[in-house]
Amino acid sequence: MTRMQNAGWSDQGGLFFNEEEDMEIVANIPTPEECASQILDYTGHIVEPEAAGELWLKILQHKWFLSEKLGRDVGIKVACLDFIENTQSNQQDVREEEIARILRELGGTLVDSGIWDTISDTQPPKKIVEKRIILPLTKVDLARKHGVVPPKTIIFFGPPGTGKTHFVRAIAGILKWWYVEVSPSDLMAEGQDRLGLNLKTLMEKALRLEEAVIFIDEFEEIAASRDNASRMDKSITNEFLKQVPILKKLGGKILLICATNYIRELDAALLRPGRFDCIIPVGGLDHAGLKTIFDHYLSQTNAGEVDSDRIVSLIPFYTPADIEYLFQKVTHAAFERELSLGRDYQITTDLFIQKIPEVKPSLTDKITAEFERDCREFRRY
Ligand SMILES: Nc1ncnc2c1ncn2[C@@H]1O[C@H](COP(=O)(O)OP(=O)(O)O)[C@@H](O)[C@H]1O
Ligand SMILES: [Mg+2]
Repeated sequence: MTRMQNAGWSDQGGLFFNEEEDMEIVANIPTPEECASQILDYTGHIVEPEAAGELWLKILQHKWFLSEKLGRDVGIKVACLDFIENTQSNQQDVREEEIARILRELGGTLVDSGIWDTISDTQPPKKIVEKRIILPLTKVDLARKHGVVPPKTIIFFGPPGTGKTHFVRAIAGILKWWYVEVSPSDLMAEGQDRLGLNLKTLMEKALRLEEAVIFIDEFEEIAASRDNASRMDKSITNEFLKQVPILKKLGGKILLICATNYIRELDAALLRPGRFDCIIPVGGLDHAGLKTIFDHYLSQTNAGEVDSDRIVSLIPFYTPADIEYLFQKVTHAAFERELSLGRDYQITTDLFIQKIPEVKPSLTDKITAEFERDCREFRRY
């Protein structure tokens, strides 16, 4: 066994050798933090300090092997670069470590693939999403054969509560990709004037990921056009226009999805062709769409005889959010009734009919007309 193979970190963060006669504390050995900073300096790779200490030992070992092999003393910088850049498995380790760190920083999660099934096939835009996004990303070879380029940048727009966020989560779930949600308040955390810079930092990190859906919700809050656009407004548009081509050039599997309730408010420069590949409306539901969601929520209750077709026909202007709210009312009423009756209480059609007047439908004729106008003007896929 060589001395280096037998080495480890001492409590002081220095390097020691285990063979007793050889025991020595080597001066000037960096702490794990210093190791991380050295590795970054030499190679440009960011490694967590916990991992960097161990990696540094391997690099020292590599330096020794390399020097033996070449018959001359190889510098630490060369050994470090060679180790990180040229050793496939190490590259993989460093890459995985980097992805794990970025996912931790951005709060990436995995989403249940079953969410996709809570959306009826007839609920727009499920079919479009399937055709334009899911299939080209899952049937990769066939898409390549026919020159189909999967989209990378997408906007969902539509009235509040129609299921935009739900769709984005469902996409991440069915693709089995990471889901990273960014809210405008995250980007504005240190003041509006840092918005462009924060977006740049976010995108630089996000673009290092693989198989990830990056979701910016309430996009109009950061990307609205204003007549007298301040520097802040321009900085976010400019940063977006810079980042989108970078994202498109990258081979990695990354989707950038933005959602907005107010497509009309977005800076027109962002909506020109070439920036967002798809601009997809998410609107009201038909009978089957309403019923799928209704039955999904019903399956989680203590239900007796419930005529869901009849109830659904009474709520044509409900959004998914309204259905969810109706269920909140109904399940709470059932809970209270069982408490006061002291015996099993099952939800019935009548209870729904009693509660429907308490939940005002979010979609009105006016909202629907505006949405249809937006669809005509902005829809692109
Ligand atoms: N197809 C669906 N099945 C079940 N729940 C849904 C469905 N679509 C939306 N929801 C629920 O309705 C609520 C509103 O949807 P959300 O995606 O937040 O709307 P938006 O982002 O358009 O405002 C959420 O609680 C969501 O989980
Ligand atoms: Mg939402």
